[in-house]
Amino acid sequence: MHFNGSHYRTIWPDPQNNRQICIIDQRKLPHDFVVETLTTIEEAVTAIREMHVRGAGLIGATAGFGMYLAALEAPSAGFSDFMVDAGKKLGESRPTARNLLWAVERVLHALAKSADPLEKRRLAFATACAIADEDAFFCRRIGEHGLEIIKEISRRKNGAPVNILTHCNAGWLAFVDYGSATAPIYAARDAGIPVHVWVDETRPWNQGTKLTAWELQQENIPNTLICDNTGGHLMQQGMVDMVIVGTDRTTHTGDVVNKIGTYLKALAAHDNNIPFYVALPSSTFDWDLDKGVDVPIEQRAEDEITTLSGKDENGEVRRLILAAQGTRAMNYSFDVTPARLITGLITERGMIRPEREAIHRLFPEAGKANT
Ligand code: MRU
Repeated sequence: MHFNGSHYRTIWPDPQNNRQICIIDQRKLPHDFVVETLTTIEEAVTAIREMHVRGAGLIGATAGFGMYLAALEAPSAGFSDFMVDAGKKLGESRPTARNLLWAVERVLHALAKSADPLEKRRLAFATACAIADEDAFFCRRIGEHGLEIIKEISRRKNGAPVNILTHCNAGWLAFVDYGSATAPIYAARDAGIPVHVWVDETRPWNQGTKLTAWELQQENIPNTLICDNTGGHLMQQGMVDMVIVGTDRTTHTGDVVNKIGTYLKALAAHDNNIPFYVALPSSTFDWDLDKGVDVPIEQRAEDEITTLSGKDENGEVRRLILAAQGTRAMNYSFDVTPARLITGLITERGMIRPEREAIHRLFPEAGKANT
């Protein structure tokens, strides 16, 4: 997608030196657009854990390139042990994200094809690039399938703008390109269908405020920022036509794990008969767990809740303390939306009901090792 009119992916190998992987440091947005370079596995782990990069698809792509950087560092004797250890470190950096483990497993699987360290490094690079390309392609496909749903709502509204509510950032910045929840929105814009997006601010990290609103602005999509508690009111007032969110992990039975607060939006949508869609590439499915409540939920630092950072009137980025000294906070990063509250899953192969049979029918190869 675009920043100041130029096309960017969210991660790419430096064209001058492919031992360096470029990312956009998302902690600095929307005030500063800073490209950071990763050259070691440790830097890749830190970038994921400290949220320089974030979002399901981008975490997966960064893990793929992180494994490539690890392969560059791995000693010829003990190469495999080094790589398994690197995969473990990456896997532990964000425990809820399914794409992370999926990408690590995919690179390890590719490495097993050769015993030669040089060839293994080439395979790691090729696999990381394939993961990134595939992520962008799958998001574009999600856009095409989601467009059909928006078209239908637009037809029913006689062409009046379709009001879409989204939570967190499942946009271009959360993937390699296009985004999952935003891909249908961009496809609708390209098809000339008027849309307007309600952007949940998404406390405590404020992905909606800092990332989604900025991203939609860059793409000239009309949008309005709302605080997290506003969605239910808008739904009661008939101001929301549909909800589309992303997901960090979805069980093969259709339970969706996504940014904290998603569950409450799904309950409100259900109560108001508003369709609630989840957009995801198949790399986000967990083919082993049956119940969403069994997914490990990441807990982050208390100060993400007790403090706030932003730019002051003089243009200085500052951190403010909101809570009284000694205030304890609990910072669960994700929650589980049960399948029964979800209208449909929009995947790269089409839209399906969030049910085990439908999911396995669409992905019959599910759970088998990637090549
Ligand atoms: O903690 P984050 O920002 O990495 O959370 C991930 C997300 O962006 C959201 O949960 C998103 O809705 C799903 S990931 C596309």
